[in-house]
Amino acid sequence: MNQFRWLTAGESHGRGLLAIVDGLPAGIPITEDAIANDLRRRQGGYGRGKRQQIETDRATLISGVRHGLSIGSPIGLQLINRDHQNAGWETRMSPEAVDEDIEPVITLRPGHADLSGTQKYGFDDVRPILERSSARETAARVAAGAVARAFLNEIGISLFSQTIEIGGVTVPLEGQGLTDITAIESSPVRVSDKTAEQAMIARIDGAKNDNDTLGGVFEVVAKGIPFGLGSHVQWDRKLDGRIAQAFMSINAVKAVEIGDGIANASRPGSEAQDIILPWNTEDLHPWERQTNKAGGLEAGMSNGQDIIVRGFIKPISTVPRRMPSVDLQHGDQATSFYERSDVAVVPAAGVIGEAMLAMVLADAALEKFGGDHIAEVISNFENFNSTVGPRFGVEND
Ligand SMILES: Cc1cc2nc3c(=O)[nH]c(=O)nc-3n(C[C@H](O)[C@H](O)[C@H](O)COP(=O)(O)O)c2cc1C
Repeated sequence: MNQFRWLTAGESHGRGLLAIVDGLPAGIPITEDAIANDLRRRQGGYGRGKRQQIETDRATLISGVRHGLSIGSPIGLQLINRDHQNAGWETRMSPEAVDEDIEPVITLRPGHADLSGTQKYGFDDVRPILERSSARETAARVAAGAVARAFLNEIGISLFSQTIEIGGVTVPLEGQGLTDITAIESSPVRVSDKTAEQAMIARIDGAKNDNDTLGGVFEVVAKGIPFGLGSHVQWDRKLDGRIAQAFMSINAVKAVEIGDGIANASRPGSEAQDIILPWNTEDLHPWERQTNKAGGLEAGMSNGQDIIVRGFIKPISTVPRRMPSVDLQHGDQATSFYERSDVAVVPAAGVIGEAMLAMVLADAALEKFGGDHIAEVISNFENFNSTVGPRFGVEND
């Protein structure tokens, strides 16, 4: 089956997290160090809470890799939650029944799974709901995404992210696309513009002093994209739709934009197109465009341009200044419960976005070029690429 599938398991303060990645061809270099690098990037970012100082995430490869190469079987990944060993979590999150009384969490936080989750799953304690809905789970996604990234690397696809906005402070960008990647990677807020970086840090400090939280916007760019990932023929094969679902599934993402999707809505049609350049210059890629307002996707298919996706993050819902709430047991007025929390997570969300885009693209690339060994995939990939171009001389029935 030429499909890249994955699932995660694990609670925030449980024993650990798991990911299973299925469908990866054999022969792809996979290392724990490369996975750890992405996990480290997810943990970074100015505005994160104390939890990131407790955890130093490293995934252990449990299966699917031998002597540094994938063997075609499912890849199992395990991450230990270090915090589980601290301050009573072993008891509070014990899989076994425990003798002592555990104090339930009963104050409902708006903006979280607390209310709907307890009603849906029949709990009188928010703990079992908040533990799984926590963004701690995204560490497992990033580990699985690093596996997808290793596969994409074999066919020349690379992914990057940058922060566009935190709490209303925006990065001045000339058009779309990535700026200086080295500067982004060394920036605590993942921007290359130093003035914007300082303004964002000041904004986060200000929110922290006010006992408040912030949201913002991140951008993920995938480069080296071939033609024809996804398809126009059926709604659930459209690549833009698949990417939007993957991004919307990231905790706190409330809107997704592909390319100039939002700006294009208010432009006249004559200014919203990416003009196709003539096929007559050797230095141009096949079917090069003047611009990339479509963000590399037309009619649910990749068009050979960079894929550009933005995720819009709401402000973190656990607001330290304590918002009015109600209690789960009686529905009475209460003050919202505060558990150690992040102030702003936009830079980390960019890294999670890279993982999500990598997994959607890995799935679409396997669909199009699938094979059981990477050499077979590359051969299919090269064959297809050799057919891309003007159709003169091509026999059509
Ligand atoms: C990297 C990351 C870290 C997060 N950390 C927190 C946090 O510390 N506190 C919090 O209330 N929400 C945090 N969130 C957001 C919540 O997980 C999310 O808002 C909640 O699960 C409800 O889901 P929804 O916002 O997608 O509807 C974080 C999100 C991300 C992407």
